[in-house]
Amino acid sequence: MKAVYHLKLSKSDIKGAKVALLPGDPGRVPKIAEALCTGLGGAKKANAQELAYKREFCTWLVKSGAARVLVTSTGIGGPSTSIAVEELAMLGVRTFIRVGTTGAIQRRIRPGDVVISTAAVRLDGASSQYAPIEYPAVADLDVTNALIAGAKAEKIRYHAGITCSTDTFYPGQERKDSFRGYVPRRFQGITKEWEKLNVLNYEMEAATLFTMCGALGLKGGCVTGVVLERHTTEKVMHDDLRRAETHAIKVAASAVRILLS
Ligand code: URA
Repeated sequence: MKAVYHLKLSKSDIKGAKVALLPGDPGRVPKIAEALCTGLGGAKKANAQELAYKREFCTWLVKSGAARVLVTSTGIGGPSTSIAVEELAMLGVRTFIRVGTTGAIQRRIRPGDVVISTAAVRLDGASSQYAPIEYPAVADLDVTNALIAGAKAEKIRYHAGITCSTDTFYPGQERKDSFRGYVPRRFQGITKEWEKLNVLNYEMEAATLFTMCGALGLKGGCVTGVVLERHTTEKVMHDDLRRAETHAIKVAASAVRILLS
């Protein structure tokens, strides 16, 4: 099989990997690969290699004994996530775990906690090109249970529940720290509404991933590290970002270990 169009990977490259971790940021791919190597009992880096890097899509393969796991960055948002999931599925991947960062919208959630999404509000656009809007964006139960077990094993504070996935970081998440500071009427007060409806957090990829996985017969899960709580601030602090990223990676790596055991 020749290489898939965007990811620049072919079936022979991925050596039968069935599980992929999906960060948004290509810069996180080596960090996640390293965490997986350690978690799977391998020597750091020795068992991880970069396979391809094109546009926002960077892929590493991690191997330990019989286990093969891919780490592929999706870029930000639904459209590029849909490309990564489609092309990885064409190559044989069946389980997808998004590992990202998030803004919490419930006061009890603190920076450094992780959110494990059980479902997502579909405020993205890409998911509606896979299934009508009435179709639910729901995480796979086995993957979600593994993420919860991973958070418990790592002793990281977690919250499992509904996430809101938006197509924009600024107006869609009702941010006023933007160029004009204007939030269109449709989104004014929407954070309060989601809070009242027990939505935990904002991010930008889970709805596309869950809808695609449901519709295509794949398994999808999502863990995100909390970088800020929106009632407190709109500004992300560097230390909070690092902690959130580290915690989400630890939970995801632990979940992979559980799923492969
Ligand atoms: N990612 C988001 O989409 N929103 C945030 O507030 C933080 C990370």
